Amino acid sequence: MSPILSSAESSIIESPIRRIAQLLEKAGADPDIISFGGGAPSLAPPKEVVNAMISSLKKDAFKAVSYTSTKGLPSLREKIAGDLTRSGDAVEPSQIALTTGATGGLFTALEDIINPGEEIVVSDPTYVGYEGPALIDRAKIRRVPVKKENDFQLTPDLVNEAITKKTKAIIILSPDNPTGRIQKKKNVKGIADIAKDNNLWIVSDDTYKDIIYEGSHTYVHKYAPENTITACAFSKSSSLPGLRLGYVYGPKEAINGITKLSQYIMLCPNKLSQTAAESFYSVKDSYLKESVIPVYKKKREVMGEMIKKHLPICNYVKPHGAFYYFIDLCDSKLDDEEFCNRLLEERKVVAIPGKYFGNEGKGHIRLTFVSESEKRIEEGVLKIKDFMEEL
Ligand SMILES: Cc1ncc(COP(=O)(O)O)c(C=O)c1O
Repeated sequence: MSPILSSAESSIIESPIRRIAQLLEKAGADPDIISFGGGAPSLAPPKEVVNAMISSLKKDAFKAVSYTSTKGLPSLREKIAGDLTRSGDAVEPSQIALTTGATGGLFTALEDIINPGEEIVVSDPTYVGYEGPALIDRAKIRRVPVKKENDFQLTPDLVNEAITKKTKAIIILSPDNPTGRIQKKKNVKGIADIAKDNNLWIVSDDTYKDIIYEGSHTYVHKYAPENTITACAFSKSSSLPGLRLGYVYGPKEAINGITKLSQYIMLCPNKLSQTAAESFYSVKDSYLKESVIPVYKKKREVMGEMIKKHLPICNYVKPHGAFYYFIDLCDSKLDDEEFCNRLLEERKVVAIPGKYFGNEGKGHIRLTFVSESEKRIEEGVLKIKDFMEEL
C-alpha cells in the first residue's frame, strides 16, 4: 500500500466537465456522438500563427523551444499591453505575466491573494474552475444566486449582501460560462466601487472577452486598477486551447507574486506557444471579424432557432457572448444529471448538467453551440426533442 496522500489532494474535487471530456476522448472514435459538451473552439487557428511556429522551428529549433523568463517574452508582453491599451484598458508590459492558460492564471491569482478561512464571492451558476483552487487555499466560496429574470447579472446589491468581514475577493466572469451573459457596465462599475471601499480583490475572468455577439466588454481593471487581477486566455478567441497559454495582469506587486508562484509551478511559459501568441496579434482583428464572430454567431442562431422551434417548453436567455446556451428544462421528470446521462446513452448527444455550475443550475443543461456543424446542431437538437417527448 502506498503512503497516504496530502489533505490538499483529498479536499480538491475532480472537475465534472473534465471527467466528461475524458469519457468523450474514449468515445471519440464514435462519429454518431453529437457533442454539445465541451468548451473548445471549433475553428483552426489562423494560418499565420501555424506558419510562425513552423518557421521558428525551421529557423532555429534550439531557440524555438528554449526556456524564457517566468513572466514570458518581453516582446509578447508588449503586444498584449498594446492590445489591452488600444481596447481601452491601459496596461504596462511590466504588469503582465504569461500563465498556463487562464487556468494557470486563475489558480496562481487565488494563491497570491487568499489566506485560509477567507471568503470568495462568486455568482451561482458559474464556471466550475474556481472551487478547486479555493479548496486548496481552504477558502470558503460564497455563492450568490443570479437569476434569469435579471439577465443573470451579478449586481452591486447582491455583492453587498454577500460580503462579510472574511471576504477577500469577488470573482467576475464576463462573458459568462454557462449563461453567456455579459455583465452590464453599471454593475461592473458598482462592484469595482465596492472592492475599493472595502479593500477587496476582484479576480476578473476575461477568458471570453473577445467573443461577444452583442454589446461590449467592460474592463473592471479600468475602474479598480489597484484591486483587480485579470486572467485571460489564448484558448478561445485564438483557437489555441492545447497550447496552454494565457496571461494575468494587474498591480505590479500582485503580478510579481504570481510570477514567484509560477517559478515553482511552470518555471516558464511554453516558448513555442508564446511565438504563436505573438504572431496572433498581427491577425487578431481580421481573424475575429471575418472568422470567429460570424461563424459562431451563425451557429448560435441555428441552435437558438432549433431550440425555440423544437423545445418550446424550455426557457433560456439568448447568450450575448461565449459558446453556450443554458437551458431550463422546466419541470423535466429527470434530474439534470440523469437527463444528460440518459441523453448520451439513448440518443448519443452530450450535454452538461446545470448542477455542475452550482445550485441555481439544477434543472438546466448547458449546450455548446460552437463545436458541431450547423447540420449536426440541427440533428442534435431534434434528438433532444425526441428524447424529451419519450420521457
Ligand atoms: C470561464 C472560463 N475560465 C477559464 C477557462 C480555462 O481556460 P484555459 O483553457 O485558457 O485554461 C475556461 C475554459 O473553458 C472557462 O470557460
